[in-house]
Amino acid sequence: MCGIIGYIGKEGAKDIILNALLKLEYRGYDSSGISIINEGEIITKKAVGRIKNLKAITEDLPESNMGISHTRWATHGKVTEANAHPHTGCNNQISLVHNGIIENYTQLRKILKEKGHIFKSETDTEVITHLIEEMIKEGNDIETAFIKTLKLLEGAYAIAMINRAEPNKIYAARKSSPLVLGIKEGEYMLASDTLPILPIMSDIIYIHDGDILTITKDSYKIQNLDQVPVNREITKIKADLDEITKGDFPHYMLKEIHEQPKTITNAFSGRIDEENSTAKFGGLNIDEIDLKKIDRVILTGCGTSWHACQYGKYLFEDIARIPSIAEYASEFRYRKPALTENTLLISLSQSGETADTIAAIEEAKKFNVRTIGIVNTIGSTIARMVDGGIYLHAGTEIGVASTKTFNSHLVILYLLSVYLARLRNTITKEKANEMLLELKEIPKKVEEILENETQINNISEKYFNVKNALYLGRGYNFPVALEGALKLKEISYIHAEGYPAAEMKHGPIALIDKDMPTIAIAPMDRLFKKVQSNIEEVQSRGGKVITITTEDIEDHSFDEIIKIPKTSEYLMPILATIPTQLLAYQIAVKRGCDIDKPRNLAKSVTVE
Ligand code: M6R
Repeated sequence: MCGIIGYIGKEGAKDIILNALLKLEYRGYDSSGISIINEGEIITKKAVGRIKNLKAITEDLPESNMGISHTRWATHGKVTEANAHPHTGCNNQISLVHNGIIENYTQLRKILKEKGHIFKSETDTEVITHLIEEMIKEGNDIETAFIKTLKLLEGAYAIAMINRAEPNKIYAARKSSPLVLGIKEGEYMLASDTLPILPIMSDIIYIHDGDILTITKDSYKIQNLDQVPVNREITKIKADLDEITKGDFPHYMLKEIHEQPKTITNAFSGRIDEENSTAKFGGLNIDEIDLKKIDRVILTGCGTSWHACQYGKYLFEDIARIPSIAEYASEFRYRKPALTENTLLISLSQSGETADTIAAIEEAKKFNVRTIGIVNTIGSTIARMVDGGIYLHAGTEIGVASTKTFNSHLVILYLLSVYLARLRNTITKEKANEMLLELKEIPKKVEEILENETQINNISEKYFNVKNALYLGRGYNFPVALEGALKLKEISYIHAEGYPAAEMKHGPIALIDKDMPTIAIAPMDRLFKKVQSNIEEVQSRGGKVITITTEDIEDHSFDEIIKIPKTSEYLMPILATIPTQLLAYQIAVKRGCDIDKPRNLAKSVTVE
């Protein structure tokens, strides 16, 4: 959701900045821009479209040792060059980039216009630039003007700003939008996350809400809004550069789908306690006595992570016998839920930066609710704000469509349910051992499914031109149907809906015809016969059915069949998800879609 970069250090900053910006392109990719200082002037270039367009128009940009840049995901104002960042105000004295939303921008814009400021864009961000100019006009030095302006802003921001009179300084600030500082001798880089920093720097500071930064080539200063200096810990991070390249794969999404045998293993490695027939987690930080008292679990997240929450809801009730619900974080944050200190909030997020999920945790904390975060991104906001954290260890996920992290979330939820169940004596040692053993078999079974890619590709040949699709699943496989439909719609732009199979006859059945395929998740389990009846209902209305089922299926009349290995009912969603991911991918490729950067989307949704 917009990416920002600030760099100061070596000559040749433009290339360093633009290469860094490319690593943030997944956060937003409708337009981009850069500002540098040369001979006391700020030079700004902006381009609509991908960063390669910006690169093309900045070839003749003069040398500089510093600059700021931005890749945009539009919130206020259309995708135009004028609305792209950086914004430079009336007199080009300062230039700034912003990630977040200024909620009171309408009022501020009105006041500033009355004072004679001329706005060049429709963005909320531009008010920040004019406010700073106004503060300077009133006699404040630049730093005071910056801080006074921040105090007037409502909403969320990560900002980086340069001042043409100070070619050796960058100002920055954070409130509810991520910002990281990379440190190296004689060089500093500010970025929305660590990805652009790690290839060149390994010392990182995670900037906190309320922090204001000033960096020069040789030093940095962090203070709060009252101008009191604050100390932030430097973390050493080693980059795994393999993670951020596509390797031999044509797209990150395909690479990430294929990484799942490894990422699933990473999710359970070191977390199986064989001696005590349970699971273990290093960073849970919640007393076992308190966990035993939990009488309600609320799982929360957005998008794919919310689908994983749905799976968790089934498991926690089934295995650990704790009343559980899955809630959209965006709904939970505003609906005034009745919470007690025996409620446990479990928040799921790949990025750890999703604004609604963060707000849901903040809301729960007001009621002394214990919070657990299951996130992928190390050091992210959610990872730092929860009582107990569990990392997915899935490695960086670059494809905008989440794939490997969905299944990693399922693995962690599975282990957590075993852990809670053992703690509360709702399953025996034998049952726990059986469940843990079965989990260890999953990576091998995922590999088997991945070997079946050609068959899935053949199916995609027949269906890539459809306009609508329906995904059906029951019980543990209902979340798979939801996730399968989301994957198809977000990367292929085919309208798709996920439904609990039996609900189909209460409405969606009206849509069934020969042109709308149904993807049914129907493993040979206790619900198979039920789903089979639903499939027949579709077929008798002329609908085609692609069925994902287990290899022990015998007679069938499905139009297409994708067989997957058998496993327990609890783990089936992990296996059944893989063909849905591959199918969505293959269909989107055939439709010529931009797989890793689907239109209108962004990887990390840091605005409400
Ligand atoms: O980083 P998060 O898991 O918190 O992100 C939540 C959603 O924005 C995300 O899952 C989104 O739905 C993806 N586009 C799904 O592929």
